[in-house]
Amino acid sequence: VDANRNALARRLKQVRRRTLALVAPLADDDLRRQVDPIVSPVLWDLLHVANFEERWTHRRLNGGEPLADPIVDQMLDPEVTPRRGRGALDLPSREAAMSYLERAHAAAMDALTFTPLRRGADPVALGGYAFELVAQHEEQHQETILQTLALMEPGRYVPPRATVRPSSILPPRGSAVIPEGPFVMGAGDDAFAYDNERPAHVLSLPAFSIDAAPVSEAEYLEFVAAGGYVNEALWTDEGRDWLRSSGASAPLGWERRGRQFVVTAFERESPPDPGLPVVRVSWFEASAYARWRRKRLPTEAEWEKAASWDPIVGKSRFPWGDAPWDHERADLDQLAFGPRPLGSFARGATPRGVLGLLGSVWEWTAGDFVPYEGFQAFPYDGYSKAHFERGMKVLRGGSWATRPAVARTTFRNWDFPERRQIFAGIRCASDA
Ligand SMILES: [Fe+2]
Repeated sequence: VDANRNALARRLKQVRRRTLALVAPLADDDLRRQVDPIVSPVLWDLLHVANFEERWTHRRLNGGEPLADPIVDQMLDPEVTPRRGRGALDLPSREAAMSYLERAHAAAMDALTFTPLRRGADPVALGGYAFELVAQHEEQHQETILQTLALMEPGRYVPPRATVRPSSILPPRGSAVIPEGPFVMGAGDDAFAYDNERPAHVLSLPAFSIDAAPVSEAEYLEFVAAGGYVNEALWTDEGRDWLRSSGASAPLGWERRGRQFVVTAFERESPPDPGLPVVRVSWFEASAYARWRRKRLPTEAEWEKAASWDPIVGKSRFPWGDAPWDHERADLDQLAFGPRPLGSFARGATPRGVLGLLGSVWEWTAGDFVPYEGFQAFPYDGYSKAHFERGMKVLRGGSWATRPAVARTTFRNWDFPERRQIFAGIRCASDA
C-alpha cells in the first residue's frame, strides 16, 4: 500500500508539472479569454482542475472544508456553470489561481497520507481510486487546454518545444479482416476505468474489415478536390444542415491559398501530407468521407475488437499486446504539438497489421454514446450518465494530445457530431 501511495504522490506531482508547463507560455489575457463558446477559458480549466482535486480528496476523504471561496466554487462546477457562460465569469487572477492549485495539491497529498486505501469505508478510496481519478481528470483537461490553444490565432501560443515536421515515411494503405466471433468488450476490474467502460461483456460480431491506418491528409484532400463537400448524397440530413450553417469546406485549420490548401496548427503551415493523419474533422465529415470511399465508420464494438482482441490470446491491454506504451508504439503524450507521421509507429501495430489505433488522432465511431447493459454510475452521475442518449457520438483511441494513462482500448470519449475542436480523425471500416 505504501508503494501505491508513493506512486500516486509522484504521479499527481508529475501531472501538475505538465499542466503548468503547457500553460506557462500563455499571456495573461489569452489565459482569461474564451476563444470559442465550446471551450472554456484556460484559466477556468486550471481552477476547475484544482477544484475537482480538492473535492474528491480533501473534502470527500479528509472531511476538509472547501479551499475555494463559495462563489468561485460554484463557478468551477461544470453542472452549475455551463461552458458557454464561462467567458463572462469574474475569475480570480493568474496568481490567485496558481496559489489555489498549490493549496489543492497540498491538501490532496495530505489526504493521500491519511486515507486508508485498502479497507476504507469509502469505495472511492479503495486502491487509491480517487487519486487516480484526479490525475486522469487533470490529464484530460490538459488535452482540452491543448484544443483551446489550437483554436487561438496563429502566433498567440508558442509551444514550449518544436512542433513536428511532415516526413516521407508513409503509413500502410489497405485493410485487415477481423474474423467473426465473440470478444470481450469493456474494462475488467483489474485496472482503473470509468463507469461507462464497464461492465465487461461478451459480444459476437460478424466478420468485418478495418483500415490499416487512419485517413491521411492527402487522402482527405482527394475527397475535397472531388467535390465531397458539395455532393449532398454523401451527407446525412443533419450533416447537410451542418454544412449549410457552418459553411465548412475543409477540415478546421485548412486554409485556401489560391488553388492550394495549407494545413495550419500551432507553428505548422504546410500542404496536406500523405504521411500525416487528417485531424479536426466533425463526425459529419468523417461519415461523408467514408461513404465517398464506399465504406463506413466502424462501430464502437468493431473498433475495440480490432484494437484489443485475439481469438487465441484473448483481450490484450494494448493493440500491440501487453507491453507498456513507449514512444515507438503510439503517438501520445502531447509534446510534439501535433500528430507525427503514422508510418514511424510500426511497432504499435496489431498482429493483423492495424496501425495507430491508440494515439495520433481520436477516431469517430458510428453510433451514439449509450450505456452498456448493466451500467452503474460511479462515482457520480455527472460523469457519464448525464451524457448518455443525447445524440453524442463516441470517439476512440486517444490522440497525440492524450496522456498514456488515459489512452486505453476501452476508453470512450464523446461529443456532438458537429464538433471539430477535438483532435479527431477518420478510420474506415466495411463489411467483410
Ligand atoms: Fe472536468
